Amino acid sequence: MEKIFNLNALVRKNINALKPYSSARDEYNSETQDMVFLDANENPFNTGMNRYPDPHQLKVKQLLSKIKGISTENILLGNGSDEVLDLIFRAFCEPNEDNVITLPPTYGMYEVLANTNAIDVINVALSNGFQPKVDAIIAASNNKSKILFLCSPNNPTANSFDASKIESLLKAFEGVVVIDEAYIDFSNEESWGSRLHEFPNLVVTRDTFKSIRFGRN
Ligand SMILES: Cc1ncc(COP(=O)(O)O)c(C=O)c1O
Repeated sequence: MEKIFNLNALVRKNINALKPYSSARDEYNSETQDMVFLDANENPFNTGMNRYPDPHQLKVKQLLSKIKGISTENILLGNGSDEVLDLIFRAFCEPNEDNVITLPPTYGMYEVLANTNAIDVINVALSNGFQPKVDAIIAASNNKSKILFLCSPNNPTANSFDASKIESLLKAFEGVVVIDEAYIDFSNEESWGSRLHEFPNLVVTRDTFKSIRFGRN
């Protein structure tokens, strides 16, 4: 029988219990074009930058949605990938309790963020050909393993991971699988963003604005 994956069961309890913060922009949504929110430090003089930014960044998400082929509700914008990686730790990993899996040699920031968030790191070295060792990764994980980081193309080895190995890990790993595609624009591989709907435990991080600047989709 196929396993039912419940993402909410992996989220930290205090995060699951949060009520979304509501700003003045949310509360007066239909009138905001004409209103000036002095209590949000808006400036009544139209300088082009005098309004509080949309907390949901809807217009830029709509633009990105068309370019990337990903629906707006599946997009989270951050101040670079590192901020989003930190948010993923904070959403899923209970400090001093949970662990994450990284595959050295790989991007060093996963370990820095783990240390910042008081999360253990289980290292499972890549194979001699710099590919993930699927069986060893699953054997090393336990019920406190919340995130598996797959950096593809990998920093510093530059190769992409085999799609079949990534797919096996997406199916077998019981936590969240983060595919870090910071360098996807230098590769001929297709982004795993196109397969988000297939895997409920998949998160893909990308450096969107760098890729727009390079003129690539
Ligand atoms: C693999 C990888 N992921 C993420 C990042 C962070 O990217 P950003 O500058 O968007 O935070 C880097 C930066 O070196 C990286 O090498």
